[in-house]
Amino acid sequence: MDELRTKYLDAIAAAADETALEELRVQAVGKKGEVSLKMRELGKMTPEERQVAGPALNALKNEINSALAAKKVALADAALDARLATEWLDVTLPARNRRVGTIHPISQVTEEVTAIFADMGFAVAEGPQIETDWYNFDALNIPGHHPARAEMDTFYTHRADGDNRPPHVLRTHTSPVQIRSMEKTGAPIRIICPGRVYRADYDQTHTPMFHQVEGLALGKDISMANLKWVLEEFFSAFFGTDVKTRFRASHFPFTEPSAEVDIQCSWEGGTVKVGEGDDWLEVLGSGMVHPNVLKAGGIDPDEYQGFAFGMGIDRLAMLKYGIPDLRAFFDSDLRWLRHYGFASLDQPTLHGGLNR
Ligand code: PHE
Repeated sequence: MDELRTKYLDAIAAAADETALEELRVQAVGKKGEVSLKMRELGKMTPEERQVAGPALNALKNEINSALAAKKVALADAALDARLATEWLDVTLPARNRRVGTIHPISQVTEEVTAIFADMGFAVAEGPQIETDWYNFDALNIPGHHPARAEMDTFYTHRADGDNRPPHVLRTHTSPVQIRSMEKTGAPIRIICPGRVYRADYDQTHTPMFHQVEGLALGKDISMANLKWVLEEFFSAFFGTDVKTRFRASHFPFTEPSAEVDIQCSWEGGTVKVGEGDDWLEVLGSGMVHPNVLKAGGIDPDEYQGFAFGMGIDRLAMLKYGIPDLRAFFDSDLRWLRHYGFASLDQPTLHGGLNR
């Protein structure tokens, strides 16, 4: 029995892996293992012999089983150690750099415009991009036969056969928000409405979707002079330098009188610079809100009057940040976005200087 003990305990201690260990278990204490066969011999012994051999064999069997179990754990620990030694990871290494997205120049400029007008007491109003023809045209004093409807290259939505209602349109300007705001709050009003507008047109300076910001101020004694001050104040804050404006008489169905507004610029060296030189650049349409428009919005034109203007946000962004081609704004070219985009924490504020 001592021989068996030495033989198996040494072999177990030397076993290299679990397979070797399992073979040893079968050899020693398996059904036909050496220790098991010895136990079967107990039956042939005299009772005296059995009393000595029985407990001794049992003890041997237990000892071998514990040695097997202990070795199994030791082998598993060793395997884990080996794995940990090869698979270690340095969690103190700096993380790999990931590019963060940027704020699109249109979003940035919209924020800048909003910040400047907010400082002058204008709230932001919004309206739907899919409009009824009433809000987009009729309420703005543009009747069905008016050439402005054709001029605007309007996108019309589809109507089912037999549905004779006038089709909805993709709004061609932000002016319908004037009417919606009048209906919502009545006068007095001081709002701007930035947003997307749509016209079927495509070349270097036109895209079928672009952005406008509408302005509307209604009160008891608001005049063109207030309009001029507000716009000059705006352009000077936006471009970061005093900007002169030039008002040219014009025509819009929804304003009377109407004016197109140019800002002072120079073309020296082939690039446009705002706020210097003797050239002019047209940037917006404006005027005193037409009485018919006030009426359509539920406001008494004998009691209230005011000004409205509409300008292109994309155009402002091109001018301020030197972006040459309008179409690139909407191409989603990552190289362009990384070049012209703004850091997400670079929020425009008046006190922060508006990224001049
Ligand atoms: N809605 C006009 C346009 O899109 C701009 C405008 C707005 C003109 C308000 C006058 C008053 O061209």
